[in-house]
Amino acid sequence: MNDSVLKFYEELAEDYHLIFVDWNQAISRQGEVLDKLIRSKFTTSSAHNISVLDCSCGIGTQAIGLAKYGYNVSATDISPASVKRAEKEAVSHGVHINFGVADFRTLDQDVSGVFDIVLSADNAIPHLMIDEDLNKAFQNIHTKLNHNGLLIVTIRDYDAMVKEKPTITQPNVLDEGKRIVFQVYDWAEDGKTYTVHQFIMHEINGEWKTKHNRTEYRAWLREEINNMLNVIGFTDVEWRFPEDTGYYQPIMTARKI
Ligand SMILES: C[S@@+](CC[C@H](N)C(=O)[O-])C[C@H]1O[C@@H](n2cnc3c(N)ncnc32)[C@H](O)[C@@H]1O
Repeated sequence: MNDSVLKFYEELAEDYHLIFVDWNQAISRQGEVLDKLIRSKFTTSSAHNISVLDCSCGIGTQAIGLAKYGYNVSATDISPASVKRAEKEAVSHGVHINFGVADFRTLDQDVSGVFDIVLSADNAIPHLMIDEDLNKAFQNIHTKLNHNGLLIVTIRDYDAMVKEKPTITQPNVLDEGKRIVFQVYDWAEDGKTYTVHQFIMHEINGEWKTKHNRTEYRAWLREEINNMLNVIGFTDVEWRFPEDTGYYQPIMTARKI
């Protein structure tokens, strides 16, 4: 991971909701899909009995969504500004979440207790650029799970993306044409990593302002992730795809044995 990641999320924390068509709707929709998935994996009927650590919570999209379903949620992120905003958003959504600042490569020392579920959603894990870092993150997550606990990770479909190497996303034209959001991707020559340029264009009082932030990702293939998880001691690694889940990107689950 390089310094651009922290800078990217620190600078975006106040505007992060603007990337979504409707952030509140995303909270509800993602909460609904994740709740359905979790119910299919646990026998207890009460969400209150299930503890969740969202270890890359950002401004709280999934943590708030799951807390609304009654899960016992703790949430951490490497970006203090994102965690601060998530705390505020949790209050305004009327949910209780235990927040903290933590790097998912050092959860073992930064977060106390163990959880039934550790979640990392929306392509956070691929900010780790080298095998050593991803391995460290999965090992730390492993230590934070109860026996039989469940890891849930959602990331972009890199197996598909590395074939196409898209260079730009479809612009999202929002707020009756007053907000345009899109990303430009610069791929490295080896096709394994890429720089994301996030653009948020906004018309305010007749003037257009452009906010541009950049960060780096590694396009982790499913086989690379599966192999690493198996070596660390996870089992039942499964991938679910948008056509089956209704989620906007692939969801990976794995059990701690
Ligand atoms: C794309 S955002 C997703 C945030 C949130 N899950 C959501 O969907 O709104 C990725 C998040 O991962 C966090 N992140 C990146 N590297 C991290 C690390 N090493 N440890 C913990 N969080 C990290 C970022 O700060 C950012 O909030």
